Amino acid sequence: MKPLMPYPVRTDHGALAVQARPARRWEWLWKKKHVCPWWLARTFDNRFRERFHPSGKILEPYLRPGMTALDLGCGMGFFSLAMARLEGPRGMVLSVDIQPEMLARTARKARQAGLDSRMETLRPDSDCLVLPLPVDFALAFWMAHEVNDLPLLLGRIHHYLNPGGTFMLVEPLLHVSKKRFALERALAMETGLRIEAEPRVGFSRTALFKKV
Ligand SMILES: C[S@@+](CC[C@H](N)C(=O)[O-])C[C@H]1O[C@@H](n2cnc3c(N)ncnc32)[C@H](O)[C@@H]1O
Repeated sequence: MKPLMPYPVRTDHGALAVQARPARRWEWLWKKKHVCPWWLARTFDNRFRERFHPSGKILEPYLRPGMTALDLGCGMGFFSLAMARLEGPRGMVLSVDIQPEMLARTARKARQAGLDSRMETLRPDSDCLVLPLPVDFALAFWMAHEVNDLPLLLGRIHHYLNPGGTFMLVEPLLHVSKKRFALERALAMETGLRIEAEPRVGFSRTALFKKV
């Protein structure tokens, strides 16, 4: 009998559930709306990742000490930690993810790095994001293609961004076609965000928006 692996799926009404499937059936990976399971995140979130995603270098142009930043779909907190370092002790990072296992790992890493006082983990129950405070910078790194109601989520990002704030959308080259990325960009612009640049990030398609 094949071993079973747990993996998250969306139910019809948008909630997250866990199902089991034979471990060798990987075809769900390429389906449009899969959510990256927490146990798979180790394949790209590991000690080699800084080589192709130098987190400090990618974020440094947009973050200043004392800012508030949102790491949407934070996974295991790879970028949340870099944000907390760049923003210093007066800054705040809101790390948001729908999977509690991801948030638990982010919180543990924050404690180990002594950054927990400037980081908060939040678990939304829908794509209608609710945050405790507005943000100066928002990052959606390799997560937008997993979202059910992307127009709704982008609208919420726009809502919580301070005027002049920056939103960085980064999608994986492998999963997100040029056409699909153009659609995501257009949806972001429909919320009122203005596209500013397309910074280079390894293995990714990227767009940088400003709230005017
Ligand atoms: C491929 S992982 C990327 C994690 C992280 N951004 C990184 O680059 O290491 C995508 C993450 O987005 C999360 N996610 C998917 N849909 C989400 C939503 N609607 N709201 C918040 N997080 C979501 C998943 O649970 C997963 O942890």
